[in-house]
Amino acid sequence: MDERRWWKESVFYQIYPQSFCDANGDGTGDIAGIISKLDYLAELGIDALWISPVFPSPGYDNGYDISDYEGIAPQYGTMADFEQLLSEAHARGLKVVLDLVVNHTSSEHPWFKAAISGKASRERAYYIWRDPAPGGGPPNNWGALFGGPAWSLDEGSGQYYLHLFSPQQPDLNWENAALRKELYAMMRRWLDKGIDGFRMDVISLIAKPEDFSSGTPCPSGYFDPRGRIAANPKLHVHLREMRKEGLRGSGVLALGEASATTLDSARLLTNPNGSELDMVFQFEHMDLDGGETFKWTDRQIPLPELKKVLFKWQTGMEGRGWNALFWNNHDQPRMISRLGYGEQWREASAKMLATCLHMLKGTPFIYQGDELGMTNMCFTSPEQLKDSESRNAYARYVGDGSIKEADMLHYISLKGRDTARTPMQWSAGAGAGFTAGVPWMPLNPNFRHVNAQEQLHRVDSVLAFYRRLITLRRKHDVIVYGACVPYAAEHPGIFAYTRVLGEQALLVCCNFSAESVHFAPPDGFMQAHTRLLLSSYPQSAYMQAAVLAPYEAVVLLNAPDEKEE
Ligand code: GLC
Repeated sequence: MDERRWWKESVFYQIYPQSFCDANGDGTGDIAGIISKLDYLAELGIDALWISPVFPSPGYDNGYDISDYEGIAPQYGTMADFEQLLSEAHARGLKVVLDLVVNHTSSEHPWFKAAISGKASRERAYYIWRDPAPGGGPPNNWGALFGGPAWSLDEGSGQYYLHLFSPQQPDLNWENAALRKELYAMMRRWLDKGIDGFRMDVISLIAKPEDFSSGTPCPSGYFDPRGRIAANPKLHVHLREMRKEGLRGSGVLALGEASATTLDSARLLTNPNGSELDMVFQFEHMDLDGGETFKWTDRQIPLPELKKVLFKWQTGMEGRGWNALFWNNHDQPRMISRLGYGEQWREASAKMLATCLHMLKGTPFIYQGDELGMTNMCFTSPEQLKDSESRNAYARYVGDGSIKEADMLHYISLKGRDTARTPMQWSAGAGAGFTAGVPWMPLNPNFRHVNAQEQLHRVDSVLAFYRRLITLRRKHDVIVYGACVPYAAEHPGIFAYTRVLGEQALLVCCNFSAESVHFAPPDGFMQAHTRLLLSSYPQSAYMQAAVLAPYEAVVLLNAPDEKEE
C-alpha cells in the first residue's frame, strides 16, 4: 500500500478570496469573510484549504502578479487577520495551504523595478533578458499565454524580458542562485508562521531550457513554449533543492500546478520518496475541448476521451506518484456547464460528477461553489469581463472578425476564467449574501435558487450530498489507497471503475447521460457481502435491476470483513 500521508486522506477546498465572502461591504471578498465561513467549511467536512493569493498585487492577474511576497493586500485585510484565520482554521482541524507564485513576480515588485533601473543592478539577473532578434523585434516567436509575444522591450536597456503570461508578470530566472536563496527564505518565513504547505503556481515552468530558439507556431501565430520548458530536466534539480531548503524536508505539503507536464515527468515530480513535490494537478483532461481558436469554441469534452485521459493518469501514477483531482478551479469553467448539463439536471449531474471525482485515486479538490452545484455565468457584454485572458481574446478575435461578438461572449461564458469567478452564492438575499455592497464582478443571477442557505437544511441538496461523500473517505481506506482499475472502458455513456485494496473493493458507476441505462456490474460485485455504499439518488434501482437513472452515480462496496453500520 502507498505510504499513509495526511494529504492523501484529505479533501481540499479551494478559496478564491476575491469572490468568497466580503465582510466589510466593499464588494470584494476578504480574510474576515473567510473567517466568518470557517464553521460552514468545517461542517462540510473538508480537511484543508488552499487559499488563492492574498498578497499585495497590482491585480493584472487577480493576485497572481505579486508585488510583495511577505505582506497581505489591504483589500483582504492585515497580517493580523491572516494570523487569526490560520489559528481559527487550525482550531477547527483545517490545514491551510497558500499559493506560491514563483515562476514570475509582478512587474511592480521591487526586484523588477531594480532590474529595469539598469543592467548593473543586482536584481537584473533575477529575470530573463535577451537582445532583440538580428533584424529587431522579440528574440524568438514564443507567445504569452494571455496573448501577444512572450517578450516585452525594456526601453532603457534595449533588451527584452521574458513573460510567459502577461507583460506585467516577468518570469524569474531560476538559474540565479541568489534569487533562489531569497525565495527559499521567504518560504521558510511563511512556514514559520505555521502554514501547512504551498500550492505552487505553474511550478512546472520555472526551469527555462537552454534552447531559446523559435518553434512551430500555433494558429495564434506564436509558438507555445510550455511543453519545451516543462520537459527541461533542470526542473527536478530545482525542486529537490527547494524541498530541502525552502520546505526543510518532507513534512509540509508541496502541491504543484503542473501545466504541460507528461506522465513521466509527473511520476518524477511526485515520486513516493518525496524528494520533489507531493502531488500535482495535471491538465490533460482540461484541454480536450479546445481547437484552432485555442479554448474559444463550443466544442465539448467527449466522454470517451475524458475517460481515456483520466484512466491513463490513474493507472500511470499507481504506486509511482500521486494525483490531485479536480473538475474546476479559478482558471476553469464549471464542469456541469462545460459538459452542457442544463438546469433540469444540474443537481443530479453535480452529485454524479462529485462522486466520479472523489472516488478516483488521488486527493480531491472542491472549488468554492462546487458543493452547491454552482454553474457558469452567462456574460452578455464585454464590459462585464474582468480577466485579461478573456478581454485580450475578445479584442483579438472580435477585432479581426474571425469570431462574431455574440459567439465570443458565448465561448467566454462557456470556457473563460471569469465564468467560475463570480461571487459565492451564500443566500437568495441582496448581494447573494456575498456582499452588502456592489460585487466586484456580476453575480450569477441563479443565486436566487442556487445558494447555500437554501441547501443547508435540505436533505437531498448537493451540499448534503457532498457532506456524505466526504465522510466516506474517512471510513474506507479503499477510497484513499485502493488501486484504480478501469471497467467497461469502451462504454460511451458510463464512466466506471473499480478500486481495490486487499480484500476490499469498490465499484463506481457514473452515468454521464440523460437516459436510464442498464449497466451490469462485474461478477465480483454480485456477492452476498456487496452493498450499496452510495447513490446520488434518494432511491436507487441499481441493486435490484442494474439500472442507472439519468446522471446517477453509484458506489458499491465489497468488504467481507466489515460490518454494516
Ligand atoms: C496559474 C494560475 C492562474 C494564473 C497563472 C499565472 O495558472 O492558476 O490563475 O493566471 O498561473 O500566474
